[in-house]
Amino acid sequence: MKKLWHGCHAATMAGGKYSVVEDAAILTDGARIEWIGPRASAPDIGAGARVDLDGAWVTPGLIDCHTHLVFGGDRSGEFEERLEGVSYAEIAARGGGIASTVRATREASEDALFEAAKARALGLVREGVTALEVKSGYGLDLANERKMLAVARRLGQALPLTVRATCLAAHALPPEYANRADDYIAYVCDEMLPALVAKGLVDAVDAFCEHIAFSPQQVERVFQCARDLGVPVKLHAEQLSSLQGASLAARYRALSADHLEYMTEDDAVAMAQAGTVAVLLPGAFYMLRETQLPPVDALRRHGVPIALASDLNPGTSPALSLRMMLNMGCTLFRLTPEETLAGVTIHAAQALGLQATHGSLEAGKAADFVAWKIGRPAELSYWLGGALENRVVRAGVEIDFARIAA
Ligand code: NIG
Ligand code: FE
Repeated sequence: MKKLWHGCHAATMAGGKYSVVEDAAILTDGARIEWIGPRASAPDIGAGARVDLDGAWVTPGLIDCHTHLVFGGDRSGEFEERLEGVSYAEIAARGGGIASTVRATREASEDALFEAAKARALGLVREGVTALEVKSGYGLDLANERKMLAVARRLGQALPLTVRATCLAAHALPPEYANRADDYIAYVCDEMLPALVAKGLVDAVDAFCEHIAFSPQQVERVFQCARDLGVPVKLHAEQLSSLQGASLAARYRALSADHLEYMTEDDAVAMAQAGTVAVLLPGAFYMLRETQLPPVDALRRHGVPIALASDLNPGTSPALSLRMMLNMGCTLFRLTPEETLAGVTIHAAQALGLQATHGSLEAGKAADFVAWKIGRPAELSYWLGGALENRVVRAGVEIDFARIAA
């Protein structure tokens, strides 16, 4: 059914950059945008429905392109320890950190993980997120990674949300492989990834390249395996130290390299050439009280697309709001409000390989958008927390949150 959404202004992100249509109208046909432009030149829709958006600003549906939102337990105790001065790396070294969430996630049933993840995801949908990525990486064996990825798939079926599932089996060394990292990587490559890909549970493969996780050589084995299986890669790179993981990711034409506080100018050159998106994660930067800033100027200079994401996870970024990341992207990383909006729309879509269908308001793309009751788009980066009044449209249908909650 055709609908003409009017009475709005639109920040379209058309052509991959911030652009605005004042007094706009959007014609949707089912789940797709058929036309968008100035209201005065809107096509005649005959008996189709007209929806008055009452002066709202419309943006593409927000995209959270880096989350670990499926997990058991929480790590508020470690948060308290870190406030006392214990570092993330120290906590990891004595079996806490990611390993403690692995224990809790292994113990949790698939249904329990699903219910907890659904509540977090629904919170994001309410604030305008229409697509997100979910990483595994707290299972670290075949059965538990499969359980996490199955939860990701169920979230996409249960909620009005596009979900991309990323296998992050190479996140940390599970206890049963202590001191045998190469053997674990062989298990990931020879058994886990082929089985999970065969089950249709994997849209991308990720790894954690860091001195407390896996070396560039180990990550490269995982990337080779992903390439053989025909699955795109991403990388947690340069979060705590500089290992040229971002350049390695670029060599494998990764969709994205994420974190990047310690990346170099050479990494930026390699990423620009490969079309690898830089995903910046201000929530983790803030929670770890990191002081090394990601080199935003180098990314800009070399034309690397910059995305922003929540990194929602129980350890380093218990961030239940993507919109909060827009504010933090501006205040902590000195991004402009326009850059942050691109970072959670068109560039985030590219970080998930979805840019042909999502991330901007253009004819032919998914009719996923948010009508915000704000005076200017910069308000999305300005308000700190709280709920901004909005109407969320997914696949051409306005989401009825009262019905979802019931
Ligand atoms: O993106 N860097 C590694 N992975 C997560 C942290 C996961 C955790 O601490 O549980 C991140 O920050
Ligand atoms: Fe992460």
